[in-house]
Amino acid sequence: MKIAWCITGAGHLLKESFEVFRTIKKGVRDLAHETSNLKPKTSQERELKITIFISNAGVEVLRMYGIFDKLKEISNGDYMEEIFTEPEQGSSSPKAGRFSLKKYDAVVVSPATSNTVAKIAYGIADSLVTNVVSLAMKACIPVYIVPTDGSPGKVSSEMPYSIDRDKCKGCDDCEPRDRCEKGAIYGAPIPQIDLLRCDGCGLCRELCPYDAINGGVVEIKAREIDIRNVERLKKMEGIIILERPEYFFFFYKKEKLC
Ligand SMILES: Cc1cc2nc3c(=O)[nH]c(=O)nc-3n(C[C@H](O)[C@H](O)[C@H](O)COP(=O)(O)O)c2cc1C
Repeated sequence: MKIAWCITGAGHLLKESFEVFRTIKKGVRDLAHETSNLKPKTSQERELKITIFISNAGVEVLRMYGIFDKLKEISNGDYMEEIFTEPEQGSSSPKAGRFSLKKYDAVVVSPATSNTVAKIAYGIADSLVTNVVSLAMKACIPVYIVPTDGSPGKVSSEMPYSIDRDKCKGCDDCEPRDRCEKGAIYGAPIPQIDLLRCDGCGLCRELCPYDAINGGVVEIKAREIDIRNVERLKKMEGIIILERPEYFFFFYKKEKLC
């Protein structure tokens, strides 16, 4: 089975999406190891390949949450197990041509930002992920989408690291600032975090004696327009909307769409 996993710039459901694909990959690897004496040539590990396609915002947000470097656990760089980003794929996304050649069984966009959802809903294909979806649909490959803003009501979402200005004491010798390997913490007396430099390693959080650095959880309410766009996607042939990334394996069916 060959899956294209597309990641967009969403913090909501990002860790959950990562855990799903890591678990799938690890589960299949363990199974392959157990059965390797019996069937080395047809191990399921060889069967499951996951290629990762990441939007520009996706790269930034993955770093902020400390996940970017861990993606290698899922896609090791071999053929059909690469990690593709927008800068290397230019404006025309040549690797998305693999979908026209029907090299994948399914596409999963998880998490899908409201920006990417809106583009797909209106047929726009001007980025790596929207190109993947467009070409997959044209090749009748099923596209599973996990939107971050798909239903009314509030959802809780974990934030990247920030400095709690009520707790920060503005120390002259601020260890989190001075020891951050990425130089992502700057300013005085109360410093700030430059999230585009942060790689979510969490060292600063451990170093602050006043517990002033945290991710924290916020509540977010989806906009009506985003919910409408998700409804629009539900009506599109070949697109399956999932509320959570974990549902992918319950819903996945090997089927020929056209
Ligand atoms: C920390 C962080 C978390 C974000 N989480 C979300 C999210 O959950 N859902 C969303 O629609 N946009 C979210 N965004 C905003 C998107 O990254 C932004 O709209 C971006 O342009 C989306 O581009 P893309 O769809 O090409 O990935 C987040 C941004 C940041 C910095």
